[in-house]
Amino acid sequence: MNVAAGVARRAGDTVLLGRRHGPFAVETKSTPTDMVTLWDGRSESLIVRELSERRPHDGVLAEEGSTRDSDSGIVWVVDPIDGTTNFLYNLAGFAVSIAATVDGRSIAGAVYLPATRELFVAARGAGAWLGGRRLRCSPTTEASQALIGTGFSYLAEERARQGRRVASLIEHVRDVRRLGAAAPDLCFVADGRLDAYFEENLRPWDVAAGSLVAEEAGAIVTDFTGGPASDGQILASTPGIHGAMSELLTGPLHST
Ligand code: IPD
Ligand code: CA
Ligand code: CA
Repeated sequence: MNVAAGVARRAGDTVLLGRRHGPFAVETKSTPTDMVTLWDGRSESLIVRELSERRPHDGVLAEEGSTRDSDSGIVWVVDPIDGTTNFLYNLAGFAVSIAATVDGRSIAGAVYLPATRELFVAARGAGAWLGGRRLRCSPTTEASQALIGTGFSYLAEERARQGRRVASLIEHVRDVRRLGAAAPDLCFVADGRLDAYFEENLRPWDVAAGSLVAEEAGAIVTDFTGGPASDGQILASTPGIHGAMSELLTGPLHST
């Protein structure tokens, strides 16, 4: 956890300085709206270099293409900038996300938001923390009173389907937020800034650290039906509304 925290903080502060002072270069990836900046690559290089110095026997799986096999059984799963669209538009909600995983299961992680200097950390069985404060998810028990986070794919047809799902849900909850970065969304469930968060078709680096932070803060993290969560489908919710959220996402109200 401390390795993830230190490396995430250094990478995050570097990309924040890069955002403010440049240089700045942008390209597209999977679709014309899926952007990658010079700083995604620089953040990833810094993270991979520091991890190989400090944990030379561990593997790496990182979004912008870095991979290394593991001799130790530990694989670091890295999103060098989660919320690149926010980063591009100079919105504060972007983060560096780093998790240590064993057999695909996160055992420690850190999510650092450089614009607000918030460092969320967790280790399995040892809790989730923001600064020196132990995190607990919200006590909400009524879905109708709950603030729900979600996100949308970069693929247009997938976004249309996700939009219909939100349309069927919104009258049954307090309100919905699309903040723009999955790892912070999960940390915000941990900290009670959201009561639940759901999304589909993410990638391992989007959820590896944040889902552990959410779980260690007492949230229930599953797929929409209550089965094991994956990057393909994740619902992270405070326990009091998890059943209701699962029903709203899969029940008869959901027509698509
Ligand atoms: C994206 C963000 C966004 C989510 C997308 C992700 P990126 O990650 O987490 O909130 O809705 O599905 O791909 O591309 O900014 O690292
Ligand atoms: Ca991401
Ligand atoms: Ca990213």
